Amino acid sequence: MCGIIGYIGSKEAVPILLDGLKKLEYRGYDSAGIAVLKDNKIKIVKCKGKVAKLENLLEKDAPKGNIGLGHTRWATHGKPNDINAHPHNGCNSEIVVVHNGIIENYMSLRERLILEGHNFISETDTEVLPHLIESNYHNDFTLAVKESLKEIEGSYAIGVISTRDPGKIVASRCGSPLIIGIGEGEMFLASDIPALLIYTNRVIFLEEREIATITKDGVEIINSKGKILHKKVINIDWGEEMIEKSGYKHFMLKEIFQETMVIRNNLEGRINLSTKTLQPENLPLPLDRIKEIERISILACGSSYYTALAGKYIFEELTGIPVEVDYSSEFRYRKILLGKKDLAILISQSGETADTLAALRACRKAGSYILALTNVRGSAISREADSVMYIKAGPEIGVATTKAFVSQLMCLYILSLYFAQVRKTLDLSEINKIISELIKIPQMVEIILLKEPEIIKLSEEFHKYHNFLYLGRGINYPIALEGALKLKEISYIHAEGYAAGEMKHGPIALLDKTFPVVVIVPQDKVYTKVINNIKEVKARDTLVLAIATEGDKEIINIADKVIYIPKTLDILYPILSVIPLQLFAYHIADRLGCDVDKPRNLAKSVTVE
Ligand code: F6R
Repeated sequence: MCGIIGYIGSKEAVPILLDGLKKLEYRGYDSAGIAVLKDNKIKIVKCKGKVAKLENLLEKDAPKGNIGLGHTRWATHGKPNDINAHPHNGCNSEIVVVHNGIIENYMSLRERLILEGHNFISETDTEVLPHLIESNYHNDFTLAVKESLKEIEGSYAIGVISTRDPGKIVASRCGSPLIIGIGEGEMFLASDIPALLIYTNRVIFLEEREIATITKDGVEIINSKGKILHKKVINIDWGEEMIEKSGYKHFMLKEIFQETMVIRNNLEGRINLSTKTLQPENLPLPLDRIKEIERISILACGSSYYTALAGKYIFEELTGIPVEVDYSSEFRYRKILLGKKDLAILISQSGETADTLAALRACRKAGSYILALTNVRGSAISREADSVMYIKAGPEIGVATTKAFVSQLMCLYILSLYFAQVRKTLDLSEINKIISELIKIPQMVEIILLKEPEIIKLSEEFHKYHNFLYLGRGINYPIALEGALKLKEISYIHAEGYAAGEMKHGPIALLDKTFPVVVIVPQDKVYTKVINNIKEVKARDTLVLAIATEGDKEIINIADKVIYIPKTLDILYPILSVIPLQLFAYHIADRLGCDVDKPRNLAKSVTVE
């Protein structure tokens, strides 16, 4: 949802801005631009297209200067073109703004500013900002930004530079993330941590409506009332190597291959591997809270919604607590029926998804206890929750989530085992049995990853089809949804996920030999039911790829192709079955020449509604 980078120091700004934009490109890649301030002039270079195109333009003629802003755009208002690309200028090229978010009242502001004599050239909502700041500018740059933001409705993270006060970047946020990086004699501004890691790991997270005035020697932060704040500097423990491709063709592939590691990270400190018991001291939520929960509501978007759906099966099976699952974007506009005895779990890799944040706030109003599962420390959702369980996936750069998905599943398993222990819905031997199996999952994942060559071959055969149906039943139904989403979002092939038992209530009409079906069919309690579903599919001449349990002798006589996964407990299959589907989608998309890490029209962090 747009990435912002800013630099102020004594080095040339352009290479730093470009490097930052490359790291932020997962947030949007419709267009890119930079602005550099030198000798009381601001030079802007921007274009439609990816950061690589901007880099080409800058190779010929890069503006010199030590203060600058950069932006990579995910278009909301105004189509992607050179003019709508950020940064945006006021009338006199004296005030330049980059913005992430949506200004909802931009039409009325624009009309008013036009009447005041301001001249607009783009179709964006953002362009009102430099004009508004221009009109509120008397002597004080920060004050002009502060007064202008009072008039803004909507969400924003902004960076502003001005020739009227050239040694500063003024920045603020409301609803979109913004981080200040602290260097030696230089300072940075960015939408996300990876853009800063190469320069510093000391950061300050700006909170809602705070305004930062950044010079090369430091930062002064005030709240919306003008009170000076003394904010904590946080040391980030992510290494620079964590945001490189490390020899993999794409981040997505690297991240799939990191799944063994992230599963181990999630076990560490939460489960004692020798006693095979939980370590409650490192798990979230006060005991009293866990005991009094009457209902759980899990809210999320996209793939995180599918982990939430799997969470319903896991929690209900292990704890007996009724669970409702909702898309955050639907939940927030419905009548909220939660209360004080309900636990709201918000799942969000980025911790910034606008709808999930709004759902969190609705749960807060309803008085429910709020637990966030997120990957990003300091993110809005982590800050506003009562408790946080970090999913420990490390930076996820590929736009399509993979390792965060399995990390979220791991957290849901551990959390529900913990609830089962506290509420005594399982006895210790049953908990111990699941834990014993859970700690074998990393080795099982390694075995699945070794099957990559087999999956590459399958991608050769399947990449020519234009439609796919993914089927799963019980706890593997959400994985069918996720498998279909992975394929469609990175390869642009139409794919639908369906509950296997629902297939004959409609989708079966679509099936023929041009419409392959991918079926998740582990040897669990619904195995024979799914086998029957496969037979129904085969009767329509359809090509079937099955994800089945190692040692299943029957499946190869029924399905056309099989990828085997190791045998585990019924409840744990999703964390294994999703991995071949991620690899399958990746290799089809790669074979089709798609930009796997940056699929068209998508952005990693959806900070607008
Ligand atoms: C799909 C994908 C998205 C995200 C969704 C929610 O591969 O990555 O569907 O899952 O945008 O994002 P978070 O988890 O950051 O709230």
